[in-house]
Amino acid sequence: MAKEYGHYDDAAREYVITDPCTPWPWINYLGTEDFFGLISNTAGGYSFCKDAKFRRITRYRYNGVPMDAGGRYFYIKDGDTVWNPGWKPCKTPLDFYECRHGMNYTSIEGRKDGVTAKVLFFVPLKTWAEVQKLTLTNTTDKTRKLKLFSFQEWCLWNASTDMENFQRNFSTGEVEIDGSVIYHKTEYKERRNHYAYYSVNVPVQGFDTDRESFLGLYNGFDAPQAVLEGKPRGSVAHGWSPIASHYLEIELKPGQSRDLIFVLGYVENAQDDKWESKGVINKRMARETLSRLDTSAKVDAEFKRLCQYWDNLLQIFSVKSADERLDRTVNIWNQYQCMITFCFSRSASFFESGIGRGMGFRDSNQDLIGFVHQIPERARERIIDIASTQFADGGCYHQYQPLTKRGNDGIGGGFNDDPMWLIFGVCGYLRETGDFSILDEPVPFDNVPGSEKSLFEHLTISFDHVVNNLGPHGLPLIGRADWNDCLNLNCFSNDPDESFQTTENKTEGSKAESLMIAGLFVFSGRDYVELCRQLGKNAEADRAQKHIDAMIAAVEKYGWDGNWFLRAYDYYGRKVGSHENEEGQIFIESNGWCTMAGIGLKEGLCDKALDSVKERLDSEHGIVLNNPAFTKYYIEYGEISSYPAGYKENAGIFCHNNPWVIIGETVRGNGKAAMEYWRKICPAYIKDQTLHKVEPYVYSQMVAGKDAFRPGEGKNSWLTGTAAWNWYTITQFILGIKPTYNGLVIDPCISPDMKDFTVTRKFRGATYEIEIKNPNGATHGIKSITVDGKEICGNLIPIAAEGSLVHVTAVLQ
Ligand code: BGC
Ligand code: NOJ
Repeated sequence: MAKEYGHYDDAAREYVITDPCTPWPWINYLGTEDFFGLISNTAGGYSFCKDAKFRRITRYRYNGVPMDAGGRYFYIKDGDTVWNPGWKPCKTPLDFYECRHGMNYTSIEGRKDGVTAKVLFFVPLKTWAEVQKLTLTNTTDKTRKLKLFSFQEWCLWNASTDMENFQRNFSTGEVEIDGSVIYHKTEYKERRNHYAYYSVNVPVQGFDTDRESFLGLYNGFDAPQAVLEGKPRGSVAHGWSPIASHYLEIELKPGQSRDLIFVLGYVENAQDDKWESKGVINKRMARETLSRLDTSAKVDAEFKRLCQYWDNLLQIFSVKSADERLDRTVNIWNQYQCMITFCFSRSASFFESGIGRGMGFRDSNQDLIGFVHQIPERARERIIDIASTQFADGGCYHQYQPLTKRGNDGIGGGFNDDPMWLIFGVCGYLRETGDFSILDEPVPFDNVPGSEKSLFEHLTISFDHVVNNLGPHGLPLIGRADWNDCLNLNCFSNDPDESFQTTENKTEGSKAESLMIAGLFVFSGRDYVELCRQLGKNAEADRAQKHIDAMIAAVEKYGWDGNWFLRAYDYYGRKVGSHENEEGQIFIESNGWCTMAGIGLKEGLCDKALDSVKERLDSEHGIVLNNPAFTKYYIEYGEISSYPAGYKENAGIFCHNNPWVIIGETVRGNGKAAMEYWRKICPAYIKDQTLHKVEPYVYSQMVAGKDAFRPGEGKNSWLTGTAAWNWYTITQFILGIKPTYNGLVIDPCISPDMKDFTVTRKFRGATYEIEIKNPNGATHGIKSITVDGKEICGNLIPIAAEGSLVHVTAVLQ
């Protein structure tokens, strides 16, 4: 039995970590809107408001030694012993340690010599502040006197210049201290009208706001001089590195427990209301927030509200089956990760600094299908934001900045799969909500006022962007790249100092075509056709259908390699992903998309392609991206061949694209294979936590593939389109509950060992209790369906009246 660092507590919807020394920091996210925090199992991490780059509140050290440095630290000095409830940074051995990561909250408990310190971290709904409720308990029969120091280190706002511009930074830091509240106001005097604060709800016996005074210049977080000596310095930061630390002397009688409420908050003032008096910041809003959070009762009520918020979100879709791992994935962790992906869109994690990239165009569109059932209003807003960064010719900025919502010039456009994802995302939204009014919304191009066209026209332009950019075989030109943004067929980079993503894009005269975009075009193009018909735009539907038919014909004629779908044609028009190639003979993306789209299904192409995937790409930990892995640099392929074999896009297991094959398997009715593949990458089924290394409760972007040095090792956890794709796959294609314009379609495709299960699904205001019976161990195909006791024809459950409860029983073949 491999070593376990924790386990699930499904009833509490928590993952419980019992050993602080996890193989990598196992993190969680705080906050649901605007104010966010990343928190590791030892309380490491940082906070920001709205934008991890521009409004960074506290400092974190990426890639530091020791690992995971910087965080929300409490130091307890008990005689000569100094310890932290989360073990780090002092790493004093604890008598008991437990970290519970829940839905947007984390609680960490440590016990040492009969004193328990438990901290609950969360961001109350609609609040720009993080609460840290510390409960200290004396479990012994002696009175205990403790010295408590809190600690936060301020980041000088822009997380990027904070790490670079020291000649300025070391002179700008400013704070104000007002009773138990420490205010961080660097740059407030001039162009900023925001500040942060850190408070505790009782009078303090001391404080520090200057890092050097608190730590000692050559000490680490594990040995702050002030703590070791038990003496706060009362320092006031002037430049250098401002911090916030409270000092409290605590006496606990035998059995006594005491709550202390720390609040880390952020305020934006109006320009003409910035000051209380000359040089003194206006603290009204901070005080208002603090007054809402100054007692345990108020904080507990806020915490309850957060839990209720999650109750509501998670009751929209839930399953009850005989497999608890499936249930916890669907009912808790997969949905949770989808919401996290929505909030962060991969911009901040322990693998992404929050500085390097904003929101991806393709990424954000795909993410929509993971959270649209939960927060449709915010999905609507997101769609408009995304579409506003599109160009008039249908091309798209590849990324945009969440704070400004403007396209990111650094990366620009030219990724030719991007436009089709808009159709994918919008149709997902429409099926869930039936809100066709969004299609009439005026949406600008590149955010230029006056350029607005309806969202529907954006979809048409997106569709036509593919049609207008076909290559010599009638297949879509790839541009800078498609979903695989490391297959850079037009880049030819010889310069180690340039990024593959932004370097020259030699599309002039290029013959580089993508079979993945071809499959995506057929799959999502059909969505476009269906939508047109739904809207009564039949001429447009017919026009689009012709292009889809032509694409199918082109794929069958030029995209088939004999046993699988080619991946692409390169700049010179040579095959990529063919048995004729020396390396990279077969790829997952094109085979996933073309089988999802059912191209050549009748002619047996899908069967052959999926069998080849099984034979060449499958492994113990999931399906690798390509095979054989590239072992040398191919300048005409770009970044993909820069990775060592088995990692990332070079034959790593991209959890994001495994679902494409899984859905492909459901298209041919192979529920057994579909579920086998799904279980291989689903975190709830991870066997070896030490090998997997990253959080066992969420999907990672990549797991090292079979050619890697350590197959099965996970990387880039949390922020990946994997969450949405697996959600889409398990709920719509495996459990088979599909939202459509006219109701829910029931069409499971499961493993024959899967017995009866029940799905509860809220849809358009009604609740459906859907019982699926599988008496004969079938994989798919419905024998009969009753709706409220009456048998119906077909498998579409019509939309019921709002507020009603509908009982559906479906019996498989
Ligand atoms: C990574 C990709 C990522 C891209 C853009 C590449 O280096 O391998 O996975 O999408 O950078 O951030
Ligand atoms: C990460 C990017 O965010 C995503 O857009 C891309 O498709 C994958 N990497 C695969 O390259």
